[in-house]
Amino acid sequence: MKVQAELGGTFTLPGTSMTLNRVGYGAMQLAGPGVFGPPKDRDTALAVLREAVASGVNHIDTSDYYGPHVTNRLIREALHPYPDDLVIVTKLGAVRGEDASWSPAMTAAELTSAVYDNLRHLGLDVLNIVNLRMMGDGHGPSEGSIEAPFTTLAELQQRGLIRHLGLSNVTLTQIRQGRSIAEIVCVQNLYNVAHRNDDALIDCLAKDGIAYVPFFPLGGFSPLQASALDAAAASLHATPMQVALAWLLQRSPNMLLIPGTSSVDHLRENLEAATLQIPSELIADLEAIGRTSMMENQERATTALP
Ligand SMILES: NC(=O)c1ccc[n+]([C@@H]2O[C@H](COP(=O)([O-])OP(=O)(O)OC[C@H]3O[C@@H](n4cnc5c(N)ncnc54)[C@H](OP(=O)(O)O)[C@@H]3O)[C@@H](O)[C@H]2O)c1
Repeated sequence: MKVQAELGGTFTLPGTSMTLNRVGYGAMQLAGPGVFGPPKDRDTALAVLREAVASGVNHIDTSDYYGPHVTNRLIREALHPYPDDLVIVTKLGAVRGEDASWSPAMTAAELTSAVYDNLRHLGLDVLNIVNLRMMGDGHGPSEGSIEAPFTTLAELQQRGLIRHLGLSNVTLTQIRQGRSIAEIVCVQNLYNVAHRNDDALIDCLAKDGIAYVPFFPLGGFSPLQASALDAAAASLHATPMQVALAWLLQRSPNMLLIPGTSSVDHLRENLEAATLQIPSELIADLEAIGRTSMMENQERATTALP
């Protein structure tokens, strides 16, 4: 068993006794292609989950809409009965069609039934943390009230079915609105060394001790590629993915990582990233990746104008 320091230190979620190692694991990659259907290799999927926990991971991110139901059932089969300190974080707000499509599922009835689905498939009496995942523009947030669905989750929390609440794919305005309804312990948005839209938001959440959990920390379906990552990796005798994760850990103390993988080798590589220290001169080179990709995005947006 690895000591906690080897998983990037710890972070205690605000108003809770939940202390998480800063490197966790995201289970989405365990479902089939397009996050739909069974895993490509079921035994390996179970082995990844068991190795993550045996290595000290105590934060697993999932959803019942991965598969659907696939990752939650794998987590249960691999790890139930769960270690006392394991925090499984799930998210609600969508359902899958038979064609693998994603549709919003935000009514009170849909959210309530999703809570019961998660409880049943994970084999739990109470869910540790539930994120309300807003549809937004896909992988980016868009403004709009979260009052109705978040009030439903707050009521389910009061009924004892959920311990703590978080938000995903949201703006600062939506987080403020959410906090007027119930305490928020974590926010899960798209962020990585090349995608820096949430820089100000991260600093704002850090001041209030709220965890920021980037999804797609390695680029998600389009893995990160940048010459500065390659150069930093070569000089640190690490891999570019390890540098991308270590950069996130150094970015802010409220950053909790949930890199996803379906491979035991990649899992080991990702956990080892927590021991990597990136010196300040290399950090400056890595900062340039975000600036370049922002300029490229702006250029694409401008050239796309009629
Ligand atoms: N809230 C949301 O809306 C939302 C959206 C997306 C994801 N999430 C959560 O965030 C977690 C992380 O996101 P993600 O899994 O989509 O993306 P990610 O962690 O950025 O990247 C996963 C991809 O990187 C590859 N990979 C992982 N480790 C690697 C390594 N060491 N070397 C080379 N390739 C590596 C994986 O392939 P292999 O399987 O081959 O390793 C996979 O293709 C998910 O698992 C999920 O729990 C949340």
